[in-house]
Amino acid sequence: MNHSLVVAPSILACDFGRLHAEVLRAEVAGADWLHLDVMDGHFVDNISFGSAFIDAIAKVAAVPLDVHLMISRPDHYFPRYVRSAKNITVHVEADHDVSRTLAAIRSAGCQCGLSLKPGTPFEVVEPYLDQIDLLLVMTVEPGFGGQPFIPEMIAKVRTAVEARAARGLSYRVQVDGGINAGTGAMAINSGADTLVVGTYAFNAPDMSLVIRQLRSAV
Ligand code: DX5
Ligand code: ZN
Repeated sequence: MNHSLVVAPSILACDFGRLHAEVLRAEVAGADWLHLDVMDGHFVDNISFGSAFIDAIAKVAAVPLDVHLMISRPDHYFPRYVRSAKNITVHVEADHDVSRTLAAIRSAGCQCGLSLKPGTPFEVVEPYLDQIDLLLVMTVEPGFGGQPFIPEMIAKVRTAVEARAARGLSYRVQVDGGINAGTGAMAINSGADTLVVGTYAFNAPDMSLVIRQLRSAV
C-alpha cells in the first residue's frame, strides 16, 4: 500500500484573528488538507472550537477538511461536522460504541478515522482496522499544540503499517503532534503517509519551505 504523502497544517496553531488569510496562507504553501482539532474540555483538558468555526473555514477553503474529534461523545456530535468535513476521526478511548460510530460516519458520506493516545496500546484499535480509512497515531498527548514529539510512537507507526500489510488493508497512517523537519522525516521513514503539522508550519516565516522540506523526506 503506497499512499502519496499528505501534509495537513493544523489550524489550531494559526492566528484565529486572521482566519481566512491563514487558511489561504496554508493552501498557497501547498497544504493537501487542513487539520481541525475539536476539543471539548472533557476528553482533553482544553477547549478549541466547534462546528460553526469549521463551517466558516469550509466556506473559504479549497482543500479537504480533516476533522479530529477529541471529545467524549463523538457518536452524538459527529453529525454536526459531516457537512464540512472530508474525514472525521474519533478516539478509541472516548465513550461510544466505536464500530457503530465508524459505520455511521461512513454512511453519512465521510471518510472515517480512528485515533489512539500515546498510552493506548495498538491492540486496542486492532478490532476496528478493517472499518477505517485512516489511523491517527497521536505522537503527543492530545489537547495542546506545541508539545515535543514522543519518539516511542515510531514503533506504533511501524506496527500500524505492518498490520495494514498483513491484513491487506489500505487505511492511511497519520501522525499528529510535534511534527517538524526531523520528526516528520522519522515518521515518513517509518511508513507514515499523512502528517499533521501545527506550530512548525504556522510559526514558519515561509510555510511553503516547511512543506517542501517535509515532502523531500519521501
Ligand atoms: C494536539 C492536536 C494536534 C496539534 C498539533 O492535541 O491533535 O493536531 O494541533 O500541533 P503541533 O504540530 O504544534 O504539535
Ligand atoms: Zn489533531
